[in-house]
Amino acid sequence: MKVDDIKKICVIGAGNMGHQIALCAALAGYQVSCTDISLEMLSKAEGFARSYFPERVTKGKLTQEQADLGMKNISFTQNLERAAGDADFVIEAAVEKIDIKRKLFADLDRITPPHAILATNSSFIVSSKIADATKRPDRVCNMHFFNPALVMKLVEVVQGPHTSMETVQVTMDLCKKMGKSGAWLKKEIYGFLVNRILAALHHEAQFLADMGIATPEEIDMAVTNALGHPMGPFRLMDFTGIDLAYYIGIERYQETRDPKDKPSPLIVEKFAKGEWGRKTKKGFYSYE
Ligand code: CAA
Repeated sequence: MKVDDIKKICVIGAGNMGHQIALCAALAGYQVSCTDISLEMLSKAEGFARSYFPERVTKGKLTQEQADLGMKNISFTQNLERAAGDADFVIEAAVEKIDIKRKLFADLDRITPPHAILATNSSFIVSSKIADATKRPDRVCNMHFFNPALVMKLVEVVQGPHTSMETVQVTMDLCKKMGKSGAWLKKEIYGFLVNRILAALHHEAQFLADMGIATPEEIDMAVTNALGHPMGPFRLMDFTGIDLAYYIGIERYQETRDPKDKPSPLIVEKFAKGEWGRKTKKGFYSYE
């Protein structure tokens, strides 16, 4: 299979990541079906698409033709079989729970054409934990986008021991077609490249806040003003989801048994209160 054989892409999950990945693919000229079990998420995603395209035209970032084509290329459905049945490439961006992903991949293996590549956008579950739920592990890999996916240029393509070179090549070529820079990781490693680097920064920021050395706001101010990051670590966690930071910490600790990998007391507290960042309108900051 070659990248030019891809005509239809199915994106599973219409949440934070999925709806924007779907738009990236539609803008790159692919027919895209975005599916989710939640009707509410799907209508939110469709609403976003309906306002995003005209806004980009008004801003002069897209021509009317590009916007019309983008909108025409994308559809939203709750029906997994309809979304994935004729897909050449699937990008799974569902909830970060391994059992759900394994069940999804087993279903996708049954539903999709045999040539289809099944990629997961998971931030921390390596595809070898999922690939054996299918009969095509050679066609399974990680394809990890960053938030907001419409803006961030990097995509990590992680090759598992089961992933064929052809799958890596097609996925890297697809990144390019979608206007992204693919980073090819030749081996699976927890956190991939970027989240490992971010984890070091976040770990230190949380330690400083937990010790009462400075507030999250002050630490964010220090990082943006001294290092030139567009967002400090606490605002970024609000943006990507404190629930995600919590799950990543739990998973990481289970893997390493290193206490420093456990979610910090601050994250545990925010998680327990349901203050998960922008998606719940409150995290380290308020978004009312
Ligand atoms: N969705 C889509 N587009 C968005 C957006 C969103 N939520 N927020 C901003 N944009 C776009 C705007 O439309 C604008 O585009 P143009 O310049 O083409 O018109 C551009 O981004 C800049 O937007 P703004 O001027 O409104 O705001 P900003 O300059 O403050 O940028 C930001 C917003 C792009 C989010 C910027 O703050 C940023 O880059 N933050 C850091 C994001 C980051 O680090 N992401 C990686 C997170 S880690 C991760 O994703 C790992 C994981 O596993 C989940």
